[in-house]
Amino acid sequence: MAGKRLLITGVLTEQSIAFSVARFAQQQGAKIVLTGFGRMSLVERIANRLPEPPPVIELDVTSAEQLDSLADRVREHLDGVDGVLHSIGNAPSTALGGNFLNTTWEDVSRAVQVSTYSYKALAMATLPLMPEGGSIVGLTFDATVAWPVYDWMGVCKAGLESTNRYLASYLGPKGIRVNLVSAGPLRTMAAKSIPGFERFEPFWEERAPLGWDITDHGPAAQACVALLSDWFPATTGEIIHVDGGVHAMGA
Ligand SMILES: NC(=O)c1ccc[n+]([C@@H]2O[C@H](COP(=O)([O-])OP(=O)(O)OC[C@H]3O[C@@H](n4cnc5c(N)ncnc54)[C@H](O)[C@@H]3O)[C@@H](O)[C@H]2O)c1
Repeated sequence: MAGKRLLITGVLTEQSIAFSVARFAQQQGAKIVLTGFGRMSLVERIANRLPEPPPVIELDVTSAEQLDSLADRVREHLDGVDGVLHSIGNAPSTALGGNFLNTTWEDVSRAVQVSTYSYKALAMATLPLMPEGGSIVGLTFDATVAWPVYDWMGVCKAGLESTNRYLASYLGPKGIRVNLVSAGPLRTMAAKSIPGFERFEPFWEERAPLGWDITDHGPAAQACVALLSDWFPATTGEIIHVDGGVHAMGA
């Protein structure tokens, strides 16, 4: 990652997957800029715990104004970027936890805008920063099956996985690779906000041939850094599973 310039979204706490990505990337020599949403003073405090405290700029992916000005605001710190991490997901509580059949379109649309459409929105907002190509990486939770309690977030992730393929198709000719890491369950704020998410924990530990530690964000973060590096030059539209092997098991 030496000399690489990265824009990293999604740091909220030290448990955020994005925080681990930022830490590994810096340790490998990358220069980074973080974006934060809402609780900016908290994000800045967390950013100061990184090996090299990076600049933090504000980004609400539902704000057209903030998306439109993003490239210029990043340019105040970096002359362009080689990679972008999308580590963003949120859904109203009514869209999760077993309420699937009663969730309103208003709540579903909010979840889709923040968790799915934002992948495309962020890619377009950062396109001017990558005139010579780059790498965009996002995070999913296996959306090929229905999970208990994950509900409309599962639908959002299915859309994210499809968006990943379309972005790969449209941005490939510009030299931009677009890939997802499909992580097993990890203890973060996003996970805590899903009532009943702890049900995944014993399931995963039991089924993963490699075992799975829900408190270890390292494997998922390292995969993100690998995809942001030059070491996957011919890979795009891909979903790399970092789940201890669960996705490949039958029973
Ligand atoms: N934790 C898990 O078990 C797990 C597993 C697989 C995939 N993921 C995915 O990883 C990604 C990161 O989540 P996390 O688990 O690190 O939790 P997290 O709560 O630390 O991160 C979620 C981030 O989304 C940001 N966000 C929410 N609404 C936003 C908006 N309108 N604009 C900009 N940012 C906004 C939050 O500020 C936060 O930083 C998400 O896409 C999540 O779905 C998580």
